[in-house]
Amino acid sequence: MPKFIIEGGHPLSGTINVGGAKNAALKIIPASLLSEQTITIKNLPKIEDIDRSLEIIADLGGQITTTADGCTINTKEITKNIISSDLANKLRASIMFVGPLLARTGTASFPHPGGCVIGAGTRPIDLFLEGFKAMGAKIEWRDHVYHLIAKKLKACEYFFTTVSVTGTESLMMTAVLAEGTSILKNCALEPEIVALAEYLNTQGARISGAGTPTIIIKGVKAIAGGEFTVMPDRIEAGTFAIVAAATNSPITINNFRAEHLESLLAVLTKVGVKFESTDNSLKIISADNLKAYGLKTHEYPGFPTDLQSPYTVLMTQAQGASLIHETIYDRRLLFTDMLTQMGANIIMCDPHRVVVSGPTPLTGHKLTSPDLRAGISMVIAGLIAEGRTEIDNIYQIDRGYENIDERLRQLGAKITRIE
Ligand code: EPZ
Repeated sequence: MPKFIIEGGHPLSGTINVGGAKNAALKIIPASLLSEQTITIKNLPKIEDIDRSLEIIADLGGQITTTADGCTINTKEITKNIISSDLANKLRASIMFVGPLLARTGTASFPHPGGCVIGAGTRPIDLFLEGFKAMGAKIEWRDHVYHLIAKKLKACEYFFTTVSVTGTESLMMTAVLAEGTSILKNCALEPEIVALAEYLNTQGARISGAGTPTIIIKGVKAIAGGEFTVMPDRIEAGTFAIVAAATNSPITINNFRAEHLESLLAVLTKVGVKFESTDNSLKIISADNLKAYGLKTHEYPGFPTDLQSPYTVLMTQAQGASLIHETIYDRRLLFTDMLTQMGANIIMCDPHRVVVSGPTPLTGHKLTSPDLRAGISMVIAGLIAEGRTEIDNIYQIDRGYENIDERLRQLGAKITRIE
């Protein structure tokens, strides 16, 4: 089992470049099914989740050519209507293929998606199924597979009872080829959703309201294929800012879109981190005498749940007590057990809330990464801990952070990958 070995306590410095956003790329790849023409995707991150997503496209009959910084995809020939379970089990975002497949071919079959362990049970998909039903799909559950049939998808009016990022993206892209005008309400507001809508509109779709709670989609017969450049990964950018703050290191982060991370910057200011923000980079200057600041994760533009785990590690080094309230997922704080083993003072009030008291020195430990954000948080803990930390199951880090050990080594981190 590959693992990372980290020797903590070494000062870091230098510059790191943020890669393409995983959670934008994982939507544009399935969206390529909406067109019979070729799409060119640029700035594609080289991470496991993207490889899995492209494997699904190839499995469905799509033609993929790799380019210097991404790929081209042509799905004119779709030879299969089922998302294979061994691929779906590795990728929660496999569900993103269902809507476009249904819109293009009239049928789609898929197993319950796997991938992340952070949600209750196996991460519900009721919002997707209800949305597809609202568009006229018939759904059967047979042999552990959902079978969807829809001769012709019809437009729908749909209210998301829970704000869902992939739910919003899935129904928005599917409605592009549904007959009539769809109105989606209580949508997620993430910047990746806006980027997806803008791309689809350049190819003939008629979407308005992306980035607001109400999105209106006027169905069209077909859309073209064009060029999509993946935006910088705001979660990776925020993670690197927290790495710099937690290790009190002067690090410059390039491709940092401050407008996508206002909540993090506002919190880091309260915590006492000194930084300079330019139009495309963030320079962390110092992070002495950090002050504890409690927060509640919230859908965009609130504090992102994907930065909660790294932030919790930062709070172990801040003076005072902070209540961290993870409102989105009920298992995302379970990794704090491992921080406690390293010496952190963390009390779990309930699955959604912990109180962190700091600062406490951390000592190296043997850890296992349960999900990619907890995994990178363990890397951060290892960087600040005294002594040696071992992290296994690092597939759950490589899923979302390209070549992370090499990039951290370039900053001076003592981290090695043992295959
Ligand atoms: C997206 O997940 C991201 N993944 C997640 O990033 C991110 O944490 C999450 O949005 C919230 O920002 C991708 O974009 C691929 P949700 P998503 O549907 O869309 C409930 C990472 O680390 N829900 O917004 O799957 C669900 O249980 C990943 O990069 C239903 O109840 O999350 C959760 O409580 C982790 N029924 C809430 O909605 C449904 O049908 C928000 O989940 C779907 C979701």
